[in-house]
Amino acid sequence: MVVSFYDTKPYDRESFAEAAQSEKIEWRFHEFRLTPDTATTADGADAVCVFVNDRLDAGCIQALGEAGVKLITLRCAGHNNVDVEAARGAGIAVTRVPAYSPHAVAEHAVALFLSLNRKIHRAYSRVRDHNFSLNRLVGFDVFGKTIGIVGTGRIGKAAAQIFRGFGARVLAFDPAADTEWAREADVEYTEMDRLLRESDVVSLHLPLVPETLHLVNADTLALMKPGAHLINTGRGKLIDTTALIAALKTEHLGGVALDVYEEEEGLFFEDLSGLILQDDELSRLLTFPNVLVTAHQGFLTREALGEIARVTIDNLLRLEDGRPFLEETAL
Ligand code: NAI
Repeated sequence: MVVSFYDTKPYDRESFAEAAQSEKIEWRFHEFRLTPDTATTADGADAVCVFVNDRLDAGCIQALGEAGVKLITLRCAGHNNVDVEAARGAGIAVTRVPAYSPHAVAEHAVALFLSLNRKIHRAYSRVRDHNFSLNRLVGFDVFGKTIGIVGTGRIGKAAAQIFRGFGARVLAFDPAADTEWAREADVEYTEMDRLLRESDVVSLHLPLVPETLHLVNADTLALMKPGAHLINTGRGKLIDTTALIAALKTEHLGGVALDVYEEEEGLFFEDLSGLILQDDELSRLLTFPNVLVTAHQGFLTREALGEIARVTIDNLLRLEDGRPFLEETAL
């Protein structure tokens, strides 16, 4: 079978080459993204393998249908970039990798927060310049603070448990609360407003769907404790960036750590060093000393990449053999 693979990076090739145990798959690795404009490159492919910033809207899916594609395999958990209804209408199956390693993302969220809070990003550059001053590097103890986890699915739960390990109080909000887990993990579910009012750190671990678009906006930011930190490893559009910048300028927020950004498509995963950054809001964010941005690397551990490749290849071989897809991966 032929699989057209988009937005390919060297680490994708490595992990898929290591996991592939079958000569049944002929990979066509493309470095560009799959969008309505590039969809004809799937001509003759049985399946496409895509990532978070490929854009599979209705137009793209129609073109995939015409190209003969039978399966869209997302090598990620979130699927906000795929019009699943349109795929269903075109008779194309969609699978994803829902739980490749919740720890990878949760640990990255905590790493970002700790770096930001203890100003490691600034200390690193200072010391390399032989500036050994500690001025303006004061952080705070996590022990005894209140952490608000929004979304307690696989990743949110892992993050909550890490923060409990620091001796922090953990508040959580999720419309589908898992009260048994909360009791065992010593986490308290509460309403969103109270979580925002009481938390010293708020960490987002929920999917992007129409109802969660700009969940963090001028109104919800105003509810947050002055000096609170915000972490987003979920999806960029969970936050209204314009409102976020305003809250940083008034110094209402103490710090912001982002692994995802509202307009990351076309920027993140690319080496644009030496070029003029055209995105004014990202440029502004990067000027704040108390903002730390990584380019969507929460998933980037050996374990997560291996699991993504294993599950994706398993589903491709199921397509080839006419067996049902792994149940938890089918959308
Ligand atoms: P999951 O499906 O296990 O959990 C999501 C949770 O969010 C569910 O418990 C759900 O009830 C809850 N939720 C839904 N709407 C909510 C709302 N309005 N307020 C609060 N909670 C709400 O998903 P998982 O695996 O924990 O992933 C969470 C998100 O993290 C994904 O949707 C994806 O967007 C993002 N992600 C980011 C990665 C990165 O590299 N930065 C990698 C993997 C996932």
